[in-house]
Amino acid sequence: MTDEDIRVAAIDFLEMAPLPGVKILQLDFLDPEAPRLLMEAIGGTPDLVISDMAAPTTGHQKTDHLRTMHLCEVAAHFAVEVLGPGGHFLAKTFQGGTEKDLLNMLKQNFKQVIHIKPGSSRQESVEMFLLAKHFKGRGAASALADDSENDDDYDDRDERYDDHPDHDHERDADQD
Ligand SMILES: C[S@@+](CC[C@H](N)C(=O)[O-])C[C@H]1O[C@@H](n2cnc3c(N)ncnc32)[C@H](O)[C@@H]1O
Repeated sequence: MTDEDIRVAAIDFLEMAPLPGVKILQLDFLDPEAPRLLMEAIGGTPDLVISDMAAPTTGHQKTDHLRTMHLCEVAAHFAVEVLGPGGHFLAKTFQGGTEKDLLNMLKQNFKQVIHIKPGSSRQESVEMFLLAKHFKGRGAASALADDSENDDDYDDRDERYDDHPDHDHERDADQD
């Protein structure tokens, strides 16, 4: 793929304004047909899965958090189903809201998993982003389970973005 051949597919159940080069699906991501239709729209193996989905608010904060975390989980499972090796996953989550099972699943499948609070996210908001980098490829998780001597020497604490002003609030997902 070249810069002239960027393929982006987007999904939202609300109407979105058209964007050049972006195939837009107006559909519920939780619809069982959504993954297949997204993959059809992108027409190849994606390098990146990004989710900014947040469930419509009900006014009951705990319910809203749970529903948005569910969207994050479904997006994460979609990512490990479709990403090519070396691909990345970024999704909206909440401070302290990422379930251990989800973090463990991502850590098994990606070389680095961190939480980010970008500068553009309001400080008073509990919103965070979960970033999983360098997908190991399908089969990595089961290979890990079979191989307790797994010698992946990638140190998931080494890679930081300290020189970027937006990454002041980044922290390792292990610390949650
Ligand atoms: C925080 S907004 C982000 C919108 C977009 N990133 C933007 O900046 O305009 C969350 C979006 O998630 C969408 N959303 C929530 N649940 C969804 C679902 N199940 N399927 C598709 N989109 C969903 C909402 O319609 C909303 O547009």
